[in-house]
Amino acid sequence: MITLHKNIATTIIFLVLIRMFWRYTHPVPKLPDTMSPLMQKFAHVGHLMLYLMLLALPITGCLFSWSAGHPAPVLYLFEIPRLVQDNPELLAIVKPLHIYLSWFAGLLILGHAGAALKHHFIDKDNVLLSMLKQK
Ligand code: HEM
Ligand code: HEM
Repeated sequence: MITLHKNIATTIIFLVLIRMFWRYTHPVPKLPDTMSPLMQKFAHVGHLMLYLMLLALPITGCLFSWSAGHPAPVLYLFEIPRLVQDNPELLAIVKPLHIYLSWFAGLLILGHAGAALKHHFIDKDNVLLSMLKQK
């Protein structure tokens, strides 16, 4: 299971870099004016935290594996070159970091998806549909 987890999760590093390039070159839809400035700020901070998780989780995951003396494989095709060797001191930091961050990210994603559903079914605005079409 751990090997499967690594082979899938390492792809996030490449996908998030593509996404960040895309985000930089393509503006996202504006949030609806019905949202207060504070709520809009809250949404932007939430999205920033999601991006931070998408970077921090694969980075701490790779450091976790390398410092424990294991590889970081990608889709069973190749391995990310090892940037650190076996290192118990680093392992003691990145192991709990990876585990706590992963659970925090899980909560963040649940809140994020819940907010998207609230926009659609309770506020009945365009936020969820803006994932599909620009308006
Ligand atoms: C978006 C990316 C990732 C997410 C969401 C994620 C999530 C998780 C979660 C939920 C756990 C279990 C935590 C627990 O024990 O409570 C875990 C463990 C682990 N992850 Fe990741 N991870 C990601 C990326 C990676 C990467 C890229 C690697 C290494 C190449 C990696 C290596 C590991 C290892 C070695 C464990 C510990 C397994 C064990 O000893 O039980 N992770 N990860
Ligand atoms: C059921 C699952 C999900 C739904 C319904 C959903 C829905 C949405 C919606 C409607 C937006 C647009 C908000 C806006 O207009 O500002 C959005 C943005 C975003 N979502 Fe999700 N999302 C889901 C899962 C995820 C997951 C799993 C992640 C990452 C781990 C994620 C990361 C993001 C990020 C980073 C943004 C901000 C995009 C940007 O500003 O560049 N979402 N999501």
